[in-house]
Amino acid sequence: MPPRDVVERVSFAEFLERFVWQQGEHITAVGPTGSGKTTLMVQLLHRRQFVTALGTKPADNTLMKLIRKEKHKLIRAWPPPPIAGRREQRVVLWPAFRKPEDMANQQIQIDRALREMFTQGGWTVFADELYYLCHMLRLTKLLETYWTQGRSIGLSLVGGTQRPAHVPLFAYSQCTHLFAWKSNDERDLRRIGGLGGISAKQVQETIMSLAKHEVLYINTRDGEMMRFFPGRG
Ligand SMILES: Nc1ncnc2c1ncn2[C@@H]1O[C@H](COP(=O)(O)OP(=O)(O)OP(=O)(O)O)[C@@H](O)[C@H]1O
Ligand SMILES: [Mg+2]
Repeated sequence: MPPRDVVERVSFAEFLERFVWQQGEHITAVGPTGSGKTTLMVQLLHRRQFVTALGTKPADNTLMKLIRKEKHKLIRAWPPPPIAGRREQRVVLWPAFRKPEDMANQQIQIDRALREMFTQGGWTVFADELYYLCHMLRLTKLLETYWTQGRSIGLSLVGGTQRPAHVPLFAYSQCTHLFAWKSNDERDLRRIGGLGGISAKQVQETIMSLAKHEVLYINTRDGEMMRFFPGRG
């Protein structure tokens, strides 16, 4: 057994085997640009049946991959076309974004989608760009409703951000599963270390010691932690 203050290193295969994600549990991924957040989140989305990825950039290779290889249907406006007797549904809601004025429509479509999915329950929303959604599209309140109320109606929010200090605290306090990549920024480390039930010092030291693409997984509910190198997707 490793000493208690050392986070267990596991292979990606072992992580995938041990990782249990129930509908209604939120995931937050935080790490610098290029660390591999989107790549890993996409590999976890398979586990859910009703998934909506929110497209906010003018161009996005990951979302193109979801559409081309993972059979997500591209829609430009909510709602997706109804499917009879559906057992699963995978969409990318990606309102056209060619000029700055298009942001107004982005806001309207994503706002509507979030409200209607909330009413229906059971969805997993992949919000890869939390900063943009919160600050540019001003959807903080709605996303906070997902974080605080979603669990009981089976809504899972999978959120990604480069800087923990730039998104609502609920992204940390309300997620069951937190994935963190290397950081040396004190403010960011304080935020991640501030989670209840885990040792701030251990988390912060581990995050500082991570290699490029290596990730620290924290189950914020039971305090379980693992570090591993994910696959490239
Ligand atoms: N585990 C990995 N090992 C090696 N390379 C990886 C790994 N994960 C991702 N990459 C590569 O790193 C690059 C960035 O990955 P990704 O887009 O997932 O990062 P990101 O954290 O989402 O970045 P951003 O914050 O800019 O969206 C990609 O080219 C991807 O192929
Ligand atoms: Mg990304």
